[in-house]
Amino acid sequence: MCGIVGYVGRSEAAPILLDGLRRLEYRGYDSAGVAIVDGDKVETRKCAGRIAALGKLMAEKPPSGTFGISHTRWATHGKPTDQNAHPHFDASGKLALVHNGVIENYQALKDQLMRDGDRKFSSETDTEVLAHLIGKLYDDSIAEATAQDSNGNATNAPPLNQRGLLVDAVRAALRQVIGTYGIALVHSDVPDFLVGARRGSPLVLGVGKEENFLASDVSAIVAYTRDAVYLNDFDVVAVERDKFEISSVAGEAGSYQLSKVEFSDADIKKGDYPHYMLKEIFEQPGSVRDAMRGRLSSEECTAKLGGLNMSPAQLRDVGRVVLTGCGTALHAAMVGEYLIEALAQIPTEVEFASEFRHRNTPMTRDTLVFAISQSGETADTLGALRESRRKGYRTLGICNNVASTIARESDGGVYMHAGPEIGVAATKSFTAQVTIMTAIGLLLGRMRHLSTSEGTRIIDALNALPTQIEEVLKLSDEIKAIAKKYANAPGMLFFGRQFHFPIALEAALKMKEITYLFAEGHPSAELKHGIIALVRPELPSVFIAPDDAVFSKNLNNIEQVRARKGPVIAVTSGAGADRLAKIADDIITIPTAPDYVSPILTVIPLQLLAYHLAVELGRDVDKPRNLAKSVTVE
Ligand code: G6P
Repeated sequence: MCGIVGYVGRSEAAPILLDGLRRLEYRGYDSAGVAIVDGDKVETRKCAGRIAALGKLMAEKPPSGTFGISHTRWATHGKPTDQNAHPHFDASGKLALVHNGVIENYQALKDQLMRDGDRKFSSETDTEVLAHLIGKLYDDSIAEATAQDSNGNATNAPPLNQRGLLVDAVRAALRQVIGTYGIALVHSDVPDFLVGARRGSPLVLGVGKEENFLASDVSAIVAYTRDAVYLNDFDVVAVERDKFEISSVAGEAGSYQLSKVEFSDADIKKGDYPHYMLKEIFEQPGSVRDAMRGRLSSEECTAKLGGLNMSPAQLRDVGRVVLTGCGTALHAAMVGEYLIEALAQIPTEVEFASEFRHRNTPMTRDTLVFAISQSGETADTLGALRESRRKGYRTLGICNNVASTIARESDGGVYMHAGPEIGVAATKSFTAQVTIMTAIGLLLGRMRHLSTSEGTRIIDALNALPTQIEEVLKLSDEIKAIAKKYANAPGMLFFGRQFHFPIALEAALKMKEITYLFAEGHPSAELKHGIIALVRPELPSVFIAPDDAVFSKNLNNIEQVRARKGPVIAVTSGAGADRLAKIADDIITIPTAPDYVSPILTVIPLQLLAYHLAVELGRDVDKPRNLAKSVTVE
């Protein structure tokens, strides 16, 4: 949510910043801006709208300079207008700041600044208040240092340490802030210098050769360097061309670890695909394979998840599981609940991360908590993780982004290894999460009653998945034709039972996110308890009805819809296709698979259905309205 890129080096900053913003556009895209220091002035360009609009503005009047900051915004405080776009300035106009997060006490800080002197604020943002506060503290310290100089010691006084004073001002301001921030700033009196800081919003330092970068996400800078330092909460970093220094908001010297970014620039290119979402849907044979690579033991008929950091005895003694996340990750958790309860018979709860963190969920001593998050930065999920750890529960992360905050703050976990996901609508991360859930169910099951032959059956089914997913992907054109047929539908209803109920929810979420059509998912049997009132000839119902133990139950529900002239699209497998031939209007037939792995196959045609329908409706598939890939505010 919101993207930050900063650069200091020997090259022109403008193209680097703009390129970085383009790569971060999936984090927020309602306005964008840059500030580049050119000699003694800060050149800024900013506007409401997409990065393309900013690019046009910059092309008309190119800003020049070798250090600067930039931002792409997802509005929290203040509408997406030119004025509210970042960067924001202090009263002197010399300090420019970009910010992700929310400053909760901005009104109190603003009132305090107004009491100290008449100030003009040109935006409605909390960020501008922080820019004024840092600027004031810096100007005050310069005034104080200059006064001492003129107090008789002018000639012998050490040169003014502007860089140190600017960092001090940042620290002093942040000590007054309540809320979350990832910030980057420049000051036109302090050449070749960036300051960054974070609390609750990610910020990474990219270390180059005679150039350094700041970014809210490494994908912005991976084209320039793969050496990165992931900053911790309360870190303040002072960045020059050829060095950097990390300290804390409190002023203590900080330590850091240099990491190698796992993916390259090529991995985040769209290639020949028209959209990232389609590319990522088609990457699923590989991403599912990577999610289980090295984690299945045919010898012991179980999963090996060393990252959980748990001994066999600890795994055996797990008495309860809580799975938490938001959006798509929550739906993966819901599949996980079915899997863990079925395979391991361990009572499992799914909690919306946002609810979990604010309510007193009853927990037992032997409860194991999982925080599931593609980005590893979602504020609500992070809040849930912290709350759970605060109470002393072992809390594990299931994340895609290596070194993300959730991954770092958890007691252990499992990386998805799905590769960078750029499309705002999550696809490959979902199937990776469900794959990992299956592995966790298998592992916990094998610590209890699950036999070696059952373990082997699950491992075989998992190993067969990549090839089966390839088969499903071959249906893309067929699904596109179905999407065209229903392009005028007012919405869609999705139904599934058991493991496929969460798939109905996920399919409906994809449909809402990228087509903006009304869509809801329900357990199939709930149809008759109210939802049936919606059934009519214009509104299609999508049934997830593979050839499994509840197929005939699904068939009953499909008949109930048909009896009321509702069109039916069915996702089925095996003998299901024949049995539905005369009943459903459209049938998508996928390979047959055991219950435990089947959700990974049934969700893919529905990702494709949402995708093709969104394209048919002319929607901006990779950047749907109002959404952001990673929501780092509450
Ligand atoms: C946002 C995105 C969703 C995503 C959710 C959780 O709401 O729009 O697509 O599922 O965040 O994201 P996470 O990174 O925690 O999996």
